[in-house]
Amino acid sequence: MTTMKAAVVNGFGAPEVLTITELPIPVPDAGEVLVRIAAAAVNPADLGMRDGRYPWRDEPRFPLIPGYDITGTVAEVGEGVTGLAVGDEVLAITMHATSQAGSYAEYVALPAAQVTAAPKNLSLLQAVTLPLNALVARQIVDVLGLAPGRSVLVNAPRSAVGAYVAQYAALDGLVVRTPADLDGQVDAAVDTVGGERARNAFDAVADGGRYATIVPEFWVPGGAFAEERGISPAFVALHSLPDGAMAGLVRSVEAGEVTPTPVDRTLPLSRAVEAHELLEAGGLRGKLVLTPDRSETGR
Ligand SMILES: NC(=O)c1ccc[n+]([C@@H]2O[C@H](COP(=O)([O-])OP(=O)(O)OC[C@H]3O[C@@H](n4cnc5c(N)ncnc54)[C@H](OP(=O)(O)O)[C@@H]3O)[C@@H](O)[C@H]2O)c1
Repeated sequence: MTTMKAAVVNGFGAPEVLTITELPIPVPDAGEVLVRIAAAAVNPADLGMRDGRYPWRDEPRFPLIPGYDITGTVAEVGEGVTGLAVGDEVLAITMHATSQAGSYAEYVALPAAQVTAAPKNLSLLQAVTLPLNALVARQIVDVLGLAPGRSVLVNAPRSAVGAYVAQYAALDGLVVRTPADLDGQVDAAVDTVGGERARNAFDAVADGGRYATIVPEFWVPGGAFAEERGISPAFVALHSLPDGAMAGLVRSVEAGEVTPTPVDRTLPLSRAVEAHELLEAGGLRGKLVLTPDRSETGR
């Protein structure tokens, strides 16, 4: 078999632009791994990949396959790859901003650093919600760089990223506050929502404290984020993976330190349009997961 099905975008627009297409199965280069995809999580960023708002580092190339988060099995290993073998169950992430390789497909070829053995304590369907959001949450807590005992406000603790931030912050010995239990000022705040809630979170930070956001469009120069308060807002985005980031995530999950976002529901890849419509409609209580239309996928 040399072709695969993928849900692709040939021109930006509404969910209907996602079209199931036959494409060549990618061939892994040296240092890459070909993953036979079992599941792909649907994230808000994927909506931007479909409608054109996503911040690619270079010009988008069509047909474009959206999506970050992957679980599956190793189908082939490129030259020089060590530690992974055909048939291994893996957790993987695309670095879409530069590679434009996406997860809404039956196969993807990725650099080996973006692929690691899947957590043994989760099914592939549960584990697929982890990479993008947990990895960016780890980076946020690292960027804040707070000493144990310091307090951090997470302004959307029920969002996928917010929940991971709260877990990593607690692991690092920080005192986690939410808007519901905020009592006075905090040493730092993390925004995953933007708008008025971003401003409220910023206002709760003590002068000289720290603030990080992952939704930067709400920065208002000279407004709530005024320099005179001695706070330099940090924008955190997953542009690169620190060494060992994927393996570190899996270790934390297997140790019970990090719990994945629940899955709201699983849909076949052929219903990717419906998945985007559902996410855009809002009100989900977990992640949507797409599975290639094969009868034998999933464990
Ligand atoms: N810069 C980056 O690298 C990066 C990476 C990942 C995500 N992001 C961005 O960060 C933002 C948040 O992404 P996300 O995936 O964390 O969002 P999400 O999980 O879809 O959550 C969005 C909102 O949905 C509600 N919600 C979700 N799960 C819920 C539950 N179980 N119960 C009740 N309400 C629930 C919450 O609303 P309430 O807060 O009102 O409760 C939450 O704030 C998006 O704009 C995304 O694009 C950026």
